[in-house]
Amino acid sequence: MRVAVYREEHFNAAHRLYNPAWSDEKNDSVFGKCNNPNFHGHNYRLIVRVTGEPDPETGYVIEFKTLSDLIKEHVLRHFDHKNLNLDTPWFRNLNPTAENIAIVIWNILRKQLDNRLDLTVRLYETERNFVEYPAA
Ligand code: NI
Repeated sequence: MRVAVYREEHFNAAHRLYNPAWSDEKNDSVFGKCNNPNFHGHNYRLIVRVTGEPDPETGYVIEFKTLSDLIKEHVLRHFDHKNLNLDTPWFRNLNPTAENIAIVIWNILRKQLDNRLDLTVRLYETERNFVEYPAA
């Protein structure tokens, strides 16, 4: 009787991928254009999946409005139109790859959801490149 509920959101953000412990040459060879010192942007597409049993009284696993508000308040407010490296606390010492952004978003939302609900975060960095956490 478990049902998956999905909510799709979007945010625009800038980032730079680099490892401060490495030389410029090594950063360039590993991260390429994503190591551009003046940052670059992506139109991220975020799909949040919440799984659980429909509540016997309401029939909802989670209300769409509730889920949308949680994402807006706890994720988009901090990420949208921001520089992920400089404007948010999560990526000061963590490379803002799609993988790490998905893990950060999952950790943020996990705290907001009832323990009986399961959570999966899918993040598209481009139309064709996306990640999912946790991995199935
Ligand atoms: Ni990038």
